[in-house]
Amino acid sequence: TAREPSKRGQDTKPTVLVAEKLSEAGLEVLRTLANVDCSYNLSPEELCAKISQCDAIIVRSGTKVTRQVFESSRGRLKVVGRAGVGIDNVDLHAATEHGCLVVNAPTANTVAAAEHGIALLSAMARNVSQASAAMKQGKWLRNKYVGVSLVGKTLAVMGFGKVGSEVARRAKGLGMHVVAHDPYAAADRAHAIGVDLVTFDEAISVADFISLHMPLTPTTNKVFNDESFGKMKKGVRIVNVARGGVIDEEALVRALDNGVVAQAALDVFTEEPPSKDNKLVQHEKVTVTPHLGANTVEAQEGVAIEIAEAVAGALKGELSATA
Ligand code: MLT
Repeated sequence: TAREPSKRGQDTKPTVLVAEKLSEAGLEVLRTLANVDCSYNLSPEELCAKISQCDAIIVRSGTKVTRQVFESSRGRLKVVGRAGVGIDNVDLHAATEHGCLVVNAPTANTVAAAEHGIALLSAMARNVSQASAAMKQGKWLRNKYVGVSLVGKTLAVMGFGKVGSEVARRAKGLGMHVVAHDPYAAADRAHAIGVDLVTFDEAISVADFISLHMPLTPTTNKVFNDESFGKMKKGVRIVNVARGGVIDEEALVRALDNGVVAQAALDVFTEEPPSKDNKLVQHEKVTVTPHLGANTVEAQEGVAIEIAEAVAGALKGELSATA
């Protein structure tokens, strides 16, 4: 197919807009072939204004790459790099329509996300964040903060991909019985780590703890809602390090208030950052962290290199196709 002539003028190097913080190791990879423009915290308007001078953009989860962004690029944007796994903040239909390649970093933060899931599971079960906050206010509440044990309990891992299976492996090490639900996972991969693959309804109805690891898609949007909370064991505890949008947040507030859900630990929210008075953020039974799943030194360095190499490779392909 005929391609538009390059709009880069005399400068033969492509320009990569890095719209959210990326480790130096990744920037170094990009600088070998591109001009790198690190502009963080752009408003949607500022992003649209800048994008027509960029051949590629790299984002994390804080930037929405909307149809408007693709339209504003006027054909120059060729690659979107998502420094992480989930690509739900990129309008994939618009990307395809504008001939733009979307690449992600699917492996480097797997362990970090799984470790944060386990951290939240344990912290929630032992009221760590609540007890810590109370103690900082001078309260020594040993009787109030009686936790629950993990050993011998059933954990349902919802989404048995890279992160889900690492969570399952670690939970087995904690002595938990683990079941998983994932319409795309192979039973032998699950059996290899001692996990039973079961239906969605079975997973949520047998679980003492539920850990969410599915991508946000039209099918998984608000899949945890009044109906699904109604099928859970009374007193279930839920961890979400996947995407806020898989939970109907109003329904979770109701389930916490009526005792069906005893506790929740949430790293992700439908809107990020959530408003300060968000009912889940303020709820006594909820432990919250600000989308820290991938935030380790090691994972951020790995993700930066992984996405920089993916974007560089895609740009090289583009450049040779347009030469
Ligand atoms: C992911 O999808 O990998 C994470 O949400 C990455 C991030 O922290 O942005």
